[in-house]
Amino acid sequence: MKEKKTEIAQEAETVRIRAGGGYDVRIGSGILPEAGAKAQEVLKADRIAVFTDSSVDRLYADTVEESFRRAGYETCRFVFTAGEASKNMKTVMEFIEFLSRHHLTRRDAVIALGGGVAGDMGGFAASIYLRGIDFIQIPTTLLAAVDSSVGGKTGINISSGKNLAGAFWQPSLVLYDTDTFGSLNDDLILDGTAEIVKTAAIRDADLFRLVDGNGIGEILTQTVKRCVEIKGAVVDADEKEGGLRRILNFGHTMAHAIEKASGYRISHGKAVACGMAMMTAASEAAGMTEKGTCEILCRTLEKKGFKLEPEFPPEQLCRLAGSDKKTFGDRIHLVRIDKIGRASVFDLELAGLEAFMRAGM
Ligand code: GLY
Repeated sequence: MKEKKTEIAQEAETVRIRAGGGYDVRIGSGILPEAGAKAQEVLKADRIAVFTDSSVDRLYADTVEESFRRAGYETCRFVFTAGEASKNMKTVMEFIEFLSRHHLTRRDAVIALGGGVAGDMGGFAASIYLRGIDFIQIPTTLLAAVDSSVGGKTGINISSGKNLAGAFWQPSLVLYDTDTFGSLNDDLILDGTAEIVKTAAIRDADLFRLVDGNGIGEILTQTVKRCVEIKGAVVDADEKEGGLRRILNFGHTMAHAIEKASGYRISHGKAVACGMAMMTAASEAAGMTEKGTCEILCRTLEKKGFKLEPEFPPEQLCRLAGSDKKTFGDRIHLVRIDKIGRASVFDLELAGLEAFMRAGM
C-alpha cells in the first residue's frame, strides 16, 4: 500500500493544548526511548503503571518501561487482550485492582501505551482510581495519534453502544513516536486516515487537498501535527462538548451504528468513512451542503482505500443511532459539512432520521 512509504525523519514538533491543566503533544521520531525523561518534566510520580494491549506489549512496552526505569521511576505493567472486545468495565476493574496491589498512590501515574482502546481505557482507569491520578498518552496507532489521545475523552463500551460510559480526563502529556507508523498494517492505517480526512473535511480544506494528493506516510509529522492543532483548538474552546466539539463527531453517529451492527467486525475508521459519506449524501440532498461536496469527499475516501457501499439497511442503523450519546429527548445532534473545510451542527427528530438518511441514497 503506497501509504506505507514514509517521510524522511522530521524534527520533533510540539503542540500545546490548554484544556485540563494544559499539556504538550510531542510528535517525532525516536520519542519512545526518551519517554521517561520527557515525563519527568510533568510528573511528580514515584511509580508508573504501563497499561497496554497484547500486540503493543510485544512491540514497544519493553522500550517504554525501560525508559521510565532509566528516568528513576518504579514500574509495573498491565497487559490486556488486544481488541475492542476488551474495552469494558471488567478490564478497567482488573487494572484498578492491579494499581492497588502495586501500591500506586495519588502521586503516581498511568502510562496508556497503544491505540484508542488502550488510551481510552487507561485514561478512564486513571480518572477513577483514587478519584483521579495523572496519566500520559503514548499513542502507537495513527488513529490514536490524530484523534483519541488528545482531548481527554476516556471510557469504555457497554452493551448498548460504544464509549457510553467514561469521563473527561485530560492527560499530562502525549508522546507520539512517528517510528511506530512502520509497524501498522493497512487496516490500522485506514483507521487513522478516516479521522484525518474527517478533521480536514470539517476544518481545513488545505489539509484535505494535501491528504488527497499524498500518501499519509510521506506527510506524517505535518499531518499529525495539523490534526492535533485543529483538535486542540476545538477542545480548548469546548472541552466538555457543549457545542463546538460536536463537529469532531462528523460521520460518527452512523459509524457507531455500523460498528455495533457488525458486532465490531467493521473497524472504527472504515465505519467513519461510510458514516461521513452517508451523512454528506443526505445533507447535500437536503440542500444543507454545497453541491458536489459528497463526490469530492467520496473520491478522496475511495482513493485512500475505503469501500463506501453500505452493508446495513438505514432502518437498522437509525434504530441503533437512537441509543447514541448524541440524542437528547426525542432529538439527535448531527454534524454535516457545509463544504470541504467547514462543518455545522444541527438536530433532527429521531423519528425523521431514517427519511433524512434515505434521501441521500
Ligand atoms: N473523537 C471526538 C472527540 O474527541 O471529541
